[in-house]
Amino acid sequence: AVSPFKRGAAFSDIHSETFELADIDWDNLGFAYVPTDYMYTMKCTKGGNFSKGELQRYGNIELNPSAGVLNYGQGLFEGLKAYRKEDGNLLLFRPEENAMRMIMGAERMCMPSPTIDQFVDAVKATVLANKRWVPPPGKGSLYIRPLLMGSGAVLGLAPAPEYTFLIYVSPVGNYFKEGVAPIHLIVEHELHRATPGGTGGVKTIGNYAAVLKAQSAAKARGFSDVLYLDCVHKKYLEEVSSCNIFVVKGNSISTPAIKGTILPGITRKSIIDVARSQGFQVEERLVTVDELLDADEVFCTGTAVVVSPVGSITYKGKRVPYGKEGFGAVSQQLYSVLTKLQMGLIEDKMNWTVEL
Ligand code: COI
Repeated sequence: AVSPFKRGAAFSDIHSETFELADIDWDNLGFAYVPTDYMYTMKCTKGGNFSKGELQRYGNIELNPSAGVLNYGQGLFEGLKAYRKEDGNLLLFRPEENAMRMIMGAERMCMPSPTIDQFVDAVKATVLANKRWVPPPGKGSLYIRPLLMGSGAVLGLAPAPEYTFLIYVSPVGNYFKEGVAPIHLIVEHELHRATPGGTGGVKTIGNYAAVLKAQSAAKARGFSDVLYLDCVHKKYLEEVSSCNIFVVKGNSISTPAIKGTILPGITRKSIIDVARSQGFQVEERLVTVDELLDADEVFCTGTAVVVSPVGSITYKGKRVPYGKEGFGAVSQQLYSVLTKLQMGLIEDKMNWTVEL
């Protein structure tokens, strides 16, 4: 359907009951940014509490050139998704988990954070205001990107005097250009993503800039992404640039334990519970690169990537394929249960989804 709303629609439109779908090509969504109608902003001073956020038309923001986030990287982000059900209602997946992770990250980065209720209410308001951008069932999801940043001016190194919480959204399909086909990873053994005592375990913006060099080099060589090793022993798996990693051997599934250098993924945590409920034995522990090369199946998890099968791993020039480089049976099973839950197609016994 073609939306009756122009992009300059009045603010009151967001409360209209007659939302239709935005007029875009819903069959070819990837993970490229698509601008939508509204964003949410909320500010607070250092030592203060956030209050009175508001929806605004989506657009550029104004920042002091001396803002903490621009000069010293004082910033965090989150990622979660909303799915449209057949009945038109929307489902969020575990938004309180993102709120809690932002609170933890804010503590590490010396920032105030919205409360869980403020975070979840802001997410709901932003999604509802952009409802026409939530893809039809089966076509993708609305990716929700909350940001927390030091927006106040600083010159000497110190926490910023003012903070901005902002949420924007974009309709998305598959993250990797491979779609749902397996991805091909290369193990990086020189550059590292995180160090003990550093910020690898929180979703700070700098962690993602730090991987671009290795990721770009890998992509130039035809790989989908990079898998990082621990920086001390250079033999234990950490994570991929944008997602966590799981290794399957028989009925046993292993994933690197959370120990400060690994991002505590919400999809990671959910897949651990889903796999256990499906009868697999799941271990969070140190996983060696040798075990990776000897695995039956390997897959990645993340909000953006969901569950992505790994077709091959290349380590120090040796390429190890998995199965027939197709979607492995275990990865496929876990993907299917998780996405059905997220889309409201099976009963949510875990109480993970929030309906709007
Ligand atoms: C997500 O999966 O939501 C992330 O934040 C990873 C990002 C690099 C897309």
